[in-house]
Amino acid sequence: MEQIKYTEFGWTKWWWLVRHRENFKLGKNTEIAPLVVIGCEHGVEIEDNVKIGYGAVIISDSTVDGKKGRVVLKKNCKIGANSVIMPNTVVGENSVVGALSFVNKNIPPNEVWYGRPAKFMKKVKPA
Ligand SMILES: CC(C)(COP(=O)(O)OP(=O)(O)OC[C@H]1O[C@@H](n2cnc3c(N)ncnc32)[C@H](O)[C@@H]1OP(=O)(O)O)[C@@H](O)C(=O)NCCC(=O)NCCS
Repeated sequence: MEQIKYTEFGWTKWWWLVRHRENFKLGKNTEIAPLVVIGCEHGVEIEDNVKIGYGAVIISDSTVDGKKGRVVLKKNCKIGANSVIMPNTVVGENSVVGALSFVNKNIPPNEVWYGRPAKFMKKVKPA
């Protein structure tokens, strides 16, 4: 697990913010852009090689609608800029969430999803 230094308010030196970081698990070789907010009240796990674009919000406790639950971003997945990943969801291995998406259900591995709400669009092309 990566050891990251935080300010007392939860900011990293890369300008992303983690709240309730006692429930945060971060894998290796991740790329998390500035202004990403990660709310770990009910647990957030980001596995190895995950990439997250500017301004994405990952929440395990949504105070607006009362939804709560652990979020897992599986290995090699990518989250587009300004997307919202809702509580109780899993983004599958190698999958891609397009920019500006609202993810409120589990995304299987190797798929591209986007939209509000995010929907299946296509399979990820094999490398
Ligand atoms: C989802 C994504 C990966 C798909 O890429 P792609 O395979 O090259 O897709 P295309 O550019 O061919 O787009 C296909 C269609 O979906 C639309 N589209 C693509 N991404 C979209 C998105 N996130 N939301 C809504 N519509 C989208 C396109 O306008 C296009 O519509 P059309 O069929 O009417 O022409 C990409 O569009 C995306 O959102 N990337 C994330 C960018 C980002 O946030 N980077 C991080 C910066 S730090």
